[in-house]
Amino acid sequence: MAEDSLMRGAVIRSWGTALPPKVVTNHDLEQTLDTSDEWIVERTGIRERRVGGTTSGLAIEAGRQALDRAGWDPSTVDLVILATTTPDQQVPASASTVQNELGIAGGAFDLNAACSGFVYALIAGHGLIGAGMSRVLLIGAETLSRITDWDDRGTAILFADGAGAVTLEAVDGPGQLLGWDLGSDGSARHILDADIGGYLEMDGREVFRRAVRVMVESGNTALERAGVSASDISLVVPHQANIRIIESACTRLDIPMERAVSVLDRTGNTSSASIPLALADAADAGRISPGDLVLLVGFGAGMTWASAVLRWQP
Ligand code: UT7
Repeated sequence: MAEDSLMRGAVIRSWGTALPPKVVTNHDLEQTLDTSDEWIVERTGIRERRVGGTTSGLAIEAGRQALDRAGWDPSTVDLVILATTTPDQQVPASASTVQNELGIAGGAFDLNAACSGFVYALIAGHGLIGAGMSRVLLIGAETLSRITDWDDRGTAILFADGAGAVTLEAVDGPGQLLGWDLGSDGSARHILDADIGGYLEMDGREVFRRAVRVMVESGNTALERAGVSASDISLVVPHQANIRIIESACTRLDIPMERAVSVLDRTGNTSSASIPLALADAADAGRISPGDLVLLVGFGAGMTWASAVLRWQP
């Protein structure tokens, strides 16, 4: 490994997404739950979500799309990191299935930091590129529908399935990552959890309260470390849990809502997949130009949080 390799930066080259074909609307949920489309839209912003598939299957689809768009031969990829809370099996890591099916030559591991997982993976990927790797595939993929109690209106309206991926490549110079922050407060782990073989259980109000707080604190820490201010940020890509959480956090971060990406009306909360799905949506819609500053902010079970400020240069 070169002595100066720890100085090496990285940039996102491409992205890919996968959503299962089955759509479950709020009206579908009205048939089985004591809830209404009006309540769900007003309290969460979610209108419909996608359900089905396997975590590795969705991850492979999103990962393949990202590799194809970058024009990368899978044999040149050093590592795949799969952020997920819903692996296909307890052992082995679902990343190994992805590695094999995509024909990736390098290593593979799963990373579980709940809804912050993709940003944790992004920061880890930059670190490993700094340590000498050249090409890393990062994927966030979930099949939360498998661990959702469809009779519980407190969670069934929120959680869903999907995947998003990005390719990350070494560059000469500092690269895109200007500042980052990650953390965890394990004392709050009981407010959102699922036992092995069990369903997600959540104290929604408490998660909401903490989510806004940690998004603001973590976002501000990343901005400070990047040496930029909120007004410099062209686009915020927040975890897609609840539109009211995004609105409250943006207000407190002093970033106008027009600069925030939201896809949760169509996707629901896909945990590790939500930030790459939102990032891909914004990139495909032409909402990010080279040189723009992008703030990614995640929070989730643990409670974990993670933020990153990127200078977009795909
Ligand atoms: O990825 C991170 C994980 N999760 C989150 O970020 C979720 C964070 N929390 C939330 O998004 C919100 O707390 C929820 C959407 C889960 C709930 O919204 P809320 O505004 O906090 O509602 P609440 O729990 O305070 O409940 C208000 C009322 C209650 O009725 P009463 O006691 O006022 O009569 C609930 O029983 O709404 C009732 N309620 C519902 N009504 C219709 C709760 N869930 C539903 C429902 N449909 N699905």
